[in-house]
Amino acid sequence: MPSTGRIVRIAGPVVVAKGMKGSQMFELVNVGELNLIGEIIRLQEDLATIQVYEETSGLRPGEKVVGTGQLLSVELGPGILSQIYDGIQRPLEIIKENTGDFIARGVSAPALPRDKKWSFTPKLKAGSKVTGGDILGVVPETPLVVHKVMVPPDVQGVLEEIAPEGDYTVEDVIAKVRAPNGALHELAMMQRWPVRKPRPYKTKLDPIQPLLTGQRIIDSLFPIAKGGTAAIPGGFGTGKTVTQHQLAQWADAKVIVYIGCGERGNEMTEMLERFPELRDPRTGRPLMERTVMIANTSNMPVAAREASIYTGVTIAEYFRDMGYDVALMADSTSRWAEALREISGRLEEMPGEEGYPPYLGARLAEFYERAGRVVTLGSEDRVGSVSIIGAVSPPGGDFSEPVVQATLRIVKVFWALDTALAYRRHFPAINWLTSYSLYLETLEEWFRNNVAPDWPELRKEVMAILQKEAELLEIVRLVGPDALPEADRATLEVARMIREDFLMQHAYHPVDTYCSIEKSYLMLKVILYFNKKVREAIANGAPLTRILRLPVREDIARMKIVPYDKIKDTVEDVMRKIDEQITSLVKSQKVVVV
Ligand SMILES: Nc1ncnc2c1ncn2[C@@H]1O[C@H](COP(=O)(O)OP(=O)(O)OP(=O)(O)O)[C@@H](O)[C@H]1O
Ligand SMILES: [Mg+2]
Repeated sequence: MPSTGRIVRIAGPVVVAKGMKGSQMFELVNVGELNLIGEIIRLQEDLATIQVYEETSGLRPGEKVVGTGQLLSVELGPGILSQIYDGIQRPLEIIKENTGDFIARGVSAPALPRDKKWSFTPKLKAGSKVTGGDILGVVPETPLVVHKVMVPPDVQGVLEEIAPEGDYTVEDVIAKVRAPNGALHELAMMQRWPVRKPRPYKTKLDPIQPLLTGQRIIDSLFPIAKGGTAAIPGGFGTGKTVTQHQLAQWADAKVIVYIGCGERGNEMTEMLERFPELRDPRTGRPLMERTVMIANTSNMPVAAREASIYTGVTIAEYFRDMGYDVALMADSTSRWAEALREISGRLEEMPGEEGYPPYLGARLAEFYERAGRVVTLGSEDRVGSVSIIGAVSPPGGDFSEPVVQATLRIVKVFWALDTALAYRRHFPAINWLTSYSLYLETLEEWFRNNVAPDWPELRKEVMAILQKEAELLEIVRLVGPDALPEADRATLEVARMIREDFLMQHAYHPVDTYCSIEKSYLMLKVILYFNKKVREAIANGAPLTRILRLPVREDIARMKIVPYDKIKDTVEDVMRKIDEQITSLVKSQKVVVV
């Protein structure tokens, strides 16, 4: 019997109700005459503290609060892809259509369309033994993704009936499972799962495969693993959103969950317009066909923003359970943390650093810990992954603030966006000296076996040159460039080449926007070969100034816009030119010397 209480206090998105005995933590409740959606976040005897997912103005003490007996859950099933939801999985479009531009209150709209029929093909026969995670059948949900209809995690038994091939709604019963205790489970294509509870799996696997992103600095210097976690912190306008969009488009993940937490309403509007225009590069179809988007604007209540990351990650886990690689982007987690702070303030909790609640770090950790590459539930072993990439937008670009610091302690990859680089229009503005990836060691073997045996050494050499550059620049700053020997000046030039011809990558250039790992390897190979030859030439008396004027430098700079199918030939050609031009330079020097 759901509990019914009365409102005794209202503070912004937080409401306290009395008479709520019998309700449970995280239970959904209907608040007030308007039936606003809320969730119990604290229970003391019969006093329930509730965060309300809708605007609470106009609510009055004395109005009723009714429990639903359910936890805040998401609906999982065909029809979820291509959707744009709010933080508690209400489809924005439907809500807007019903109520105009502003989301009216107390509106409930089903997350999955109820009337639409999906073509279901069974994969199991009646009589088989099934357990949670087994695939009952498949539905071609969009041209890009086959939806696997699974036995819910907590169901097992004998499949007594399964629907024949045909068209069904998400609520039609498509299977009946007799549990060992005799109970009959009637299964539909849709299942529910509480968002604050991670979906179960069999085992977690080591992060030994990279999630390739087609972005050179990421894949070659600071790679993320499938099932890994990464943060993109950066000040205003440093490229967080562009980077997240690039990853959404190019990362080798099957399904994308994109959580937008905007600062300003128009920023989200811009995203809602821009994102659906993105294309799936491999097929040219709309990227939305393999995307679920969750949008929170600043004019939506903060509690929905707090819930949005859990809604998103639960959806991501569901597609992982089908055996897919899923990439989840959250842009930006700072806005989420601010929601947490606001609610905590309303609860009159003891504030921690900069007003954030002391449990900020623990909550962030709980979220990022839901990433992973796993063996899924089910009789046959499937492997799926959820990778989580969160943007962080610290005020003033100051990385010492609490959200960046708490995130740093959790994530394994840190792509630090640098205001100075962005100002110089060096994009992506990922700082190569302060960024890091803790997956380098576990991914090393994969890179050796799948890209080139000398890949890790190549990477080390590149990093060494970039670090040396930083040291040398410091010396130049103190005593001027003339104090540097020729070899060091050559290092500066090669480092510049690495920065401008390799690390810089234009998101909007048709070829440069994506770079395969093979192409990245070849590009680095050429630059390091040039480095080696330059040193030999200097040792043989060739002046650096003349080396720098060699026409082959232009060829090296153009490699990034050479299409993938031509890169092998181009690289051979460029290597040959390096040999020819340097040899002839050294020769001409010798002639002069003699
Ligand atoms: N890889 C890139 N290639 C080309 N241009 C880029 C790239 N990354 C960022 N930019 C440029 O920087 C601008 C700002 O990027 P973006 O909107 O992603 O920043 P942001 O960090 O998300 O900003 P905000 O703090 O406002 O959310 C873009 O409009 C674009 O002009
Ligand atoms: Mg942004």
